[in-house]
Amino acid sequence: IPQPPDILSPEFEADPYSAYRVLREHYPLLRDPRTGSYLVSRYEDVQRAFRDPVFTSDNYAWQIEPVHGGRTLPQMSGREHAVRRALVAPAFRGRDLREKFLPVIERNARELIDAFREAGETDLVASFATRFPINVIVDMLGLDRADHDRFHAWYKVVVEFFGNIAQDPAVAAAGLRVNRELTAYLHPVIQERRATPGDDLLSALCAAEIDGTRMTDQDITAFVSLLLSAGGETTDKALASVFRNLLTHPGQLAAVRADRSLVLPAFVESLRYSPPVHTIMRQPAADVTLSGGTVPAGSTVICLIGAANRDERRYASPEAFDIFRTEIAAAQAFSAAADHVAFGLGRHFCVGALLARAEVEVGVNQLLDAFPGMEFADGTAPAEAGVFTRGPAGLPVRLTPAA
Ligand code: HEM
Repeated sequence: IPQPPDILSPEFEADPYSAYRVLREHYPLLRDPRTGSYLVSRYEDVQRAFRDPVFTSDNYAWQIEPVHGGRTLPQMSGREHAVRRALVAPAFRGRDLREKFLPVIERNARELIDAFREAGETDLVASFATRFPINVIVDMLGLDRADHDRFHAWYKVVVEFFGNIAQDPAVAAAGLRVNRELTAYLHPVIQERRATPGDDLLSALCAAEIDGTRMTDQDITAFVSLLLSAGGETTDKALASVFRNLLTHPGQLAAVRADRSLVLPAFVESLRYSPPVHTIMRQPAADVTLSGGTVPAGSTVICLIGAANRDERRYASPEAFDIFRTEIAAAQAFSAAADHVAFGLGRHFCVGALLARAEVEVGVNQLLDAFPGMEFADGTAPAEAGVFTRGPAGLPVRLTPAA
């Protein structure tokens, strides 16, 4: 029997998927001796941890409250969570998404592509994937478009803050500084929007009310801060991974180019094969039995999304990237009825799943239209990086622009 993997080791980051195989097969419930957390890797168990209300998410507090300057959705539960979610969710789906925000998404994709349309080469992560979702969020909020770069700088610090496995104090301090800067920036704008509402997301957040509950300035600022990581880093890595996966499988890329209805299945398969979020934590409120044993009440459970998504008990040939696989219903992939776990499931299912879908569909289609030729600049796929979130750190490509 192989040794139990150490998720904080460099070997793990270099190739988590081999370690996930060992975990699923030999250690479906592994207590990590250093942190005391329990690793859960099988699809059935991860799905259960998301769906069963005995698993709470209160333990998020240690990680995310300081950098966001307040409590946010992932760490709320019960009625507080239900009300807060109902206040913010409508802006991320339905008519608001289709009519107000789709044009914003299309415009931002076009503008970013224009900047490297004739360049012949670019790093798709630096020039597109990391910028696009942040620019979209800034515009959705109705903030000054001249501040795209400022938000991008804040975004990078917040991402580093969450990836700070080594607990570098400078990184932690920078994260807290961003919170002070973002608060100073947003509070006056929130006052303006309360006085003179516009047709933007920030005004909608100011006005939203359920049973007399509204969000305070601090609540709204914490939510905007959450969007930088929850909506920025995830979509960034999702876009980069779709292109990395397709460029690694030229036959499937050619199929997507020829039939754009395959963009959606390609995205869904990419979410399974290389999910942007690899780990989500939960705390059982009572003892629970999962494959491999019992988790005591109050302990931390680390749900390994990347492991669940390649569980051979659930998917045929799980280590193959195959946009034609039929096990995942693409139509349901963006609802809490999804049968992959890249967006979580149940009460905390990703609020922005449909926004992410719109961004990736627009981004992929525009990039394919703009560049009939695209290949890895140095002939091979760049490595993926990250343990909690994961994606290619860079994606240098050679581009042939459309005539
Ligand atoms: C929640 C993944 C895009 C906003 C989540 C969760 C996951 C996730 C795994 C569940 C967290 C948990 O159960 O504790 C992703 C992925 C994305 C994406 C893979 C892109 C491909 C977005 C976007 C937004 C967004 C674009 C908004 C702009 C949120 C919010 C939550 C959330 C607010 C918290 C929901 C709650 O706790 O009730 N996301 N996300 N996400 N996501 Fe996303």
